[in-house]
Amino acid sequence: MFRKCLIPDLPSRKQLKPWLRQIDNNRYYSNNGPLLKAFKQGLMTVFFSAENLPLQLSCTSSATVGLELVLQNLNLPTNARVLLPSFTFPATCMAVLRSGYQVVLTDVSRNSWQLEPKQAYAALKQSGFDAVIPVSSFGYPVDVSAWDKFSQKYNIPVIIDAAAALGVQKAARYCHMVFSLHATKTFAIGEGGLIISSDKALMQRIQRAKNFGFQDFEIDEIGTNGKLSEYHAAVGLAQLQRWQQLKKRRQKVFNHYKKVLKPLQNYLILRPKNQKVVPAVLPILWQGDLEPLIEGLTQAQIETRRWYYPLLHQYGFYQKYKDRIECISSFKHANYLSQHLLGLPFHNFLHKKDIKHIARCLQKFV
Ligand SMILES: Cc1ncc(COP(=O)(O)O)c(C=O)c1O
Repeated sequence: MFRKCLIPDLPSRKQLKPWLRQIDNNRYYSNNGPLLKAFKQGLMTVFFSAENLPLQLSCTSSATVGLELVLQNLNLPTNARVLLPSFTFPATCMAVLRSGYQVVLTDVSRNSWQLEPKQAYAALKQSGFDAVIPVSSFGYPVDVSAWDKFSQKYNIPVIIDAAAALGVQKAARYCHMVFSLHATKTFAIGEGGLIISSDKALMQRIQRAKNFGFQDFEIDEIGTNGKLSEYHAAVGLAQLQRWQQLKKRRQKVFNHYKKVLKPLQNYLILRPKNQKVVPAVLPILWQGDLEPLIEGLTQAQIETRRWYYPLLHQYGFYQKYKDRIECISSFKHANYLSQHLLGLPFHNFLHKKDIKHIARCLQKFV
């Protein structure tokens, strides 16, 4: 049997039916309709109510558009320099380039696999920047209190790209945050994004900007269409009803992986230091050469993925936009992680016997 790396787990036709019936009755299909309002309320209750922060929340058509909306509405200076790790999904960088800003690429920490405040501080001294985007890579949360402190101390906006981390990433007081609701994420609705921030004025500007810039039928600033439809909100409402069950299933799959991979702990690292949560995907840090392992797993009908490979500055677009992308590091850790991280199958439809089979195949390569 072929073991796929990712299989989305979205609501069935039956689970969607009551919500679709409401759309039929309402005849509302977009533009902040009643289902979107209910979905936003539900997201706040399920994911953020315990945080006790003055959070505002905005749903967008994707996380990429969400990142663009935040960047474009922070009142950053023209040609602002935005720091981010080269070890991330290209969308983080695309959002900065499409907003007209300069990208400053740096390394990540070898231990956390993430850009940390101490690296941002070094970058600030070395070359300066106007905003920073730390990434909750693979759905492992970033340390929000450390980033809140950084933002406060240096008066620099921090936008956390938490694309894969809804459900595990704590909200921040001063950092802005963007989540993805794409089909492959743990909480998925097909396509969609979610912005959270406690900056009321910023969220008002974003609300206008995602609706072409309209406010009371007048437009003062450039906008886009970044709205989420009522159909997507319907999927989201059905998904919220399944959330506890989705979470439990993922935890079970992860626990089983931890158990069967324990004997291999001298050969691989299952997660970065200090991370106790269930991630969105399952990259293992393999101590040896990845090529023969990938070949062997493929032959055993096990699909794998490499994240993040290549690094951002190793893509073709870097050469074309070199005048807008500055590299301020030799990327020692990012290079190592990119060469040694391999994504294993990780989804809600994996059974114990599949995970055992995967562990047995890995064992052959140690
Ligand atoms: C780190 C990161 N940022 C941004 C995105 C883009 O999310 P979306 O597909 O919702 O635009 C992704 C997608 O997986 C991602 O992994």
